[in-house]
Amino acid sequence: MGADHGHDDEAGSTSKPAAWARRPPGVPAGVPPPSVPLGFLAAAAVGLIGCGVAFWWARAAGIPDPTADPVVAATHFGVLATLAMGVLGAVHQFVPVITGRSLRSVRLARATLALWFGAAWMLPLGIATEQLAVTAVSGALAGLAVVALAVNLAPALAVSGKGAPVTGLRYAVGAAVVTGFLGVLFVGNRQGHWFDPAGHVDLTMGVVGMFGWLGLSYVAVAEKLWPMFFLAHVPGRHRAGRFAVHLMASGTALLAAGLGLEQDALAAAGALVLAAGLGAHLTSLAIHVRHRRRRADLHLVFVLTSALWLVAGTGLAAAGAALIGSSPVTGAALVAAAGCAFGGWLLVTLVGHAHKVVPFIVWSALRSRGIATAPSGKPLLFADLYHHRWAVATYGATTAGVLGLCLGFAASWSSAIAAGGWLLVVAGVLAAANLSIVPLRLLRSSATPAGAASGARAATPGLARPPQMPVAPTGR
Ligand code: HEM
Repeated sequence: MGADHGHDDEAGSTSKPAAWARRPPGVPAGVPPPSVPLGFLAAAAVGLIGCGVAFWWARAAGIPDPTADPVVAATHFGVLATLAMGVLGAVHQFVPVITGRSLRSVRLARATLALWFGAAWMLPLGIATEQLAVTAVSGALAGLAVVALAVNLAPALAVSGKGAPVTGLRYAVGAAVVTGFLGVLFVGNRQGHWFDPAGHVDLTMGVVGMFGWLGLSYVAVAEKLWPMFFLAHVPGRHRAGRFAVHLMASGTALLAAGLGLEQDALAAAGALVLAAGLGAHLTSLAIHVRHRRRRADLHLVFVLTSALWLVAGTGLAAAGAALIGSSPVTGAALVAAAGCAFGGWLLVTLVGHAHKVVPFIVWSALRSRGIATAPSGKPLLFADLYHHRWAVATYGATTAGVLGLCLGFAASWSSAIAAGGWLLVVAGVLAAANLSIVPLRLLRSSATPAGAASGARAATPGLARPPQMPVAPTGR
């Protein structure tokens, strides 16, 4: 599929075909129209609600066997409809920002959203209702979506000299393609029973998807976002981010190969390299936190909590792997709890970064429509676009939800799984409502003649740049 050549309304009709032509000053060139990242992120919030309901529904089915189909369905609502959806939104926004090159096509981005939405909902629904045809279609949609993603991002990711973030994103897009095709294989196996997914083979997909694609996307983009969001200027060249990207990619490949081929020594070596990569990522976080100039805020709390889930997941996975031979039920329960903790690592940081990134994108979108005043009548700031207390409540519900799932699987405690599920529903509703209600109200009021006049009056040259526009003193 080619470029849009300006036919897309929001994309405008100027020379950058897959960029947002009407962006206000200060917004980097090449970014897609706001509806692209916001569409993915809205779908991720809906996915989180679906994931919570699915875990409540699967609460008893996972005990004592966490590989039972209802749990596989709930897991895929989490990894596909929530985490992957959010990560897709982030990469469509940040690849152009980091590389300075626009997407190949805005329409292809919208097609990716539609394809992934279909795959992400049809797979778990098909597994839950035992409809093989529905799972088959989901596999086809997932395969098409990852190809569309790779085709759309390839020209931007071909840029050279942009360091660890771009290298990591290249690996991550490669892993997305591998995950998509493993999905096609696993879905096909449900129809034809070509191989036995028992043992550790079924975890291959979890490892490639969770660490190679979703985790590496976060680790790579964080190297660019943390300097901005923490206002952290790290003196000299720190290498932790680069080590993290390369070690995670090679560790994931070795661990996945070891699990898929049932070669325990290879899998153990891969797990060690992957753990070293994750350690380098945490080292990079510590360096950025130490050199930050922004005061501790809710975003920092989200990021640090997410890091704690990564540590907890690593400990639970190591304990599960050590016990699975001698005590298979306990070992499998701990591995399932580790999966929840690793999911929590990505979910908590996704929700935390959404509270930074969505107001920034929405602010730019409102400015491009001439809306520059808050409901109070003062100049519009990012902080006016959501309620801080509701954001704190969202943090609490997300963290407690992950804790409920972890405890529930580790201790075979179905009430904790059910409570965790409902807390994730609350988190999804809160995040979606909190990040959208004020902007929608501003849009509605600007549509009235009085609102439009006040917006136009307030669109002063003094607001030509976004407030607190993040600066990127990366030093790299
Ligand atoms: C980030 C992406 C993904 C992650 C982290 C992931 C994770 C996992 C995990 C951990 C399992 C094993 C579940 C268990 O045995 O308890 C699994 C199984 C499965 N996955 Fe995925 N997955 C991802 C993407 C996909 C995609 C894109 C598809 C297809 C559309 C898919 C289809 C399946 C199927 C059919 C199974 C069941 C295999 C069987 O036992 O028959 N997955 N996945």
